[in-house]
Amino acid sequence: MVATSEYILCEVSNGVLVITINRPDKLNSLNKQTIEELHEALREAEHHNEIRAVIITGAGQKAFVAGADIAEFADYSIEQGKQLSATGHFKIFNFIENYSKPVIAAVNGFALGGGLELAMACHIRVMSDNAKVGLPEVSLGVIPGYGGTQRLAQLVGKGKAFEMIVTADMINAQDALQWGLANYVTTQVELLNKCFDITNKISSKSPTAIKTAIKVINAGYNSKVNGFETEIEEFGKAFGTKDFKEGVSAFLEKRNADFKGE
Ligand code: COA
Repeated sequence: MVATSEYILCEVSNGVLVITINRPDKLNSLNKQTIEELHEALREAEHHNEIRAVIITGAGQKAFVAGADIAEFADYSIEQGKQLSATGHFKIFNFIENYSKPVIAAVNGFALGGGLELAMACHIRVMSDNAKVGLPEVSLGVIPGYGGTQRLAQLVGKGKAFEMIVTADMINAQDALQWGLANYVTTQVELLNKCFDITNKISSKSPTAIKTAIKVINAGYNSKVNGFETEIEEFGKAFGTKDFKEGVSAFLEKRNADFKGE
């Protein structure tokens, strides 16, 4: 199954992989090793059909993820900075956005810089009412480098994205909800339960259709492909899956579908 490692706790229950980023003394900031471990856990989980969704959260009550590990990149050169960003995009942020199973961010506190970028790469965000989120990189003399300049504008619109990035301001969970950055806000105690309410719905649906839906929604945000054409192609392909046969048979026979993800 998916293994726990130094900075990542992994637990599978009821077909849901819960990954807890576990560096609470550094507010779960993302150092290189954490990025590697997170990538490995997600890669491993892709092979397990019984895992239908993933929840990512942070250890402790204070932070989801307080950004990239600032101490680690303090002396980086231009080339190392570029590499840091490129590796992060490839191993985590694009990887999660294009993941075959829905990924939910359970934002349990500060989600700053790379932390908010991680939450934004996830498909759904649930925040606890103490969450504070923002992209403070310009305070450090850099810009968001894990997709934040692109995904924030997609979620909250260009005007709010400009404001959040150039002022480096944090916003609270209620504002995040109102701006479309959070799907739901709960108490910290209820945070994981709210995520499980969502994953329970996901788990009973067709994994092949969900995988395809993720691909097609993302296609609309990729300037190199036509989202509508991708939808037509993928809609057609769905008719060739066992899940489709099962879903339609179950409906006609008035029973619950038993999807195998094939
Ligand atoms: N990278 C590395 N270490 C970090 C970190 C980060 N992004 N964010 C927090 N930490 C570390 C602190 O250095 C501190 O470590 P120490 O105890 O060894 O000194 C520890 O986590 C606790 O953080 P601290 O700053 O003492 O907590 P706080 O409650 O006073 O402030 C924050 C909380 C989130 C406001 C503050 O930690 C912060 O601004 N972090 C950086 C956020 C950021 O700029 N992220 C974008 C990075 S590109």
